[in-house]
Amino acid sequence: MLSDNRIVIGKGEQEVFIRPEMANRHGLICGATGTGKTITLKVMAESFSDMGVPVFLADVKGDLAGCVKRGVRSDAIDKRLSGMGYDPDNFEYKNFPVRFWDVYGECGHPVRTTVSEMGASLLARLLGLSDVQSGVLSIAFRVADDKGWLLTDLKDIRSMVAYITDHAAELLNRYGNISKPSAGAIQRALLQLEDAGGTLFFGEPDIKLSDFIQVDEDGRGYINILHCAKLFRSPMLYSTFMLWLLAELFEDLPEVGDPEKPKLVFFFDEAHLLFSTARPMLTDKVEQVVKLIRSKGVGVYFITQQPSDIPNPVLAQLGNRVQHALRAYTPLEQRAIKAAAQSFRANPNFDTEKAITDLGTGEALISFLDEKGRPSIVERATVLPPQSAMGAIDDERRKAEIHADDMYGVYEEAVDNESAYELINSAAEQEEEEKRKAEEEKEKQKEKEKEKKEKEKATQKKKSEAAKIASSTMNTIGREVGKSISRGLLGTLKKWIK
Ligand SMILES: Nc1ncnc2c1ncn2[C@@H]1O[C@H](COP(=O)(O)OP(=O)(O)OP(=O)(O)O)[C@@H](O)[C@H]1O
Ligand SMILES: [Mg+2]
Repeated sequence: MLSDNRIVIGKGEQEVFIRPEMANRHGLICGATGTGKTITLKVMAESFSDMGVPVFLADVKGDLAGCVKRGVRSDAIDKRLSGMGYDPDNFEYKNFPVRFWDVYGECGHPVRTTVSEMGASLLARLLGLSDVQSGVLSIAFRVADDKGWLLTDLKDIRSMVAYITDHAAELLNRYGNISKPSAGAIQRALLQLEDAGGTLFFGEPDIKLSDFIQVDEDGRGYINILHCAKLFRSPMLYSTFMLWLLAELFEDLPEVGDPEKPKLVFFFDEAHLLFSTARPMLTDKVEQVVKLIRSKGVGVYFITQQPSDIPNPVLAQLGNRVQHALRAYTPLEQRAIKAAAQSFRANPNFDTEKAITDLGTGEALISFLDEKGRPSIVERATVLPPQSAMGAIDDERRKAEIHADDMYGVYEEAVDNESAYELINSAAEQEEEEKRKAEEEKEKQKEKEKEKKEKEKATQKKKSEAAKIASSTMNTIGREVGKSISRGLLGTLKKWIK
């Protein structure tokens, strides 16, 4: 709930709120299943939208889509508000400007990028290539660049890898060795990515990042909801998408230092999936990007069950923290609770560790950064209810929203423009055509040769027939002359032959 330009999340002894100027210092929402993480995220996202800050959400269960509908008053919500000291009659229920996206194009506008945009090194990391294989992949990119061939979709990069393998000998001097087994490994990894939905993700029209950073006509930030139910089943593609998005934003957005409010806020629900499936190199990259993206005015908020789901170097950068209840059945869980409690600045009024296990649904331990960027003393607070509807929406409503959106039609139809695949194919066809012509020319030449030879043969035959006649005459004469030759009259014979 936006109140006095503060992002109010809940109330304990006092209201707890995120300062807009500290919102790009990232955050974490943790808690066991069903404790209220997604609703807390929703409450934050709504306030950002109201402030004119666009939001990007990864929606794993589909339960964030309700942002598009006005919330419904209920006894439970009234009770919650009264308990917090608010008058339920004054609580405003409303819907928010929402834009649905989906890599598969089924539950939102399609989101695509091109292979060239992704770049060789990121693609190599995501395909899990070895150093040698990565080297071959970057040769494919360089040859494509030098030839002016665009790498748009996966068939482009597949034919490019095939092309450099076929032309390895002539490329050797300029680009280095292109090993066949490495190229084979790349092709196999690309096939896997294709099966995981990469065919849809890589293509055109590719997403313009500015389309994620928009406000509506009333100046409210769009809540961009990426439908992830299916995407999460393909961890490789999910990681690809996440990292690409962060990296692209980092590349594209100008440096803003410490803005008075963020340019964009990212929420990643079920973030443990990102790190548990990511390769170590990928985690390094996430750490690096999260660190640097702050100065571009982008706040990144991770949502997961335990703080330990997030690698320490990333965790250390998450300044705004909400800890919902955790369970403590096993020694491992007890240790996790201890660690979570120790990450907060203690409040003398309660025992943090004990409180973590006591919290009710929609209650949390909260510590946001103060005006100097220091974590505030932890507060035990009840989280506000969201103003929009909780839970999912039906397919009809989703479809209607997607169609009514002015973004509808911009990305819906994939186009297959001329790129490396087509150019390589036409180059191969041309090569084939030239070969065919050369072959034809050779045949013609052969034919000519044959005709010439036959003519010569015919002439020869005629000559030899004439010679035969002559020789038989000569023989007749010869026998007589022979007598002369034998008589030593050789020169006379010569005369005869002439
Ligand atoms: N702040 C809140 N105001 C009102 N109701 C809440 C609040 N927080 C949680 N609830 C109730 O608790 C339910 C579960 O909350 P939520 O879906 O946010 O849990 P979660 O931690 O995201 O669970 P999961 O790990 O399964 O995704 C909600 O559907 C809602 O009914
Ligand atoms: Mg949830």
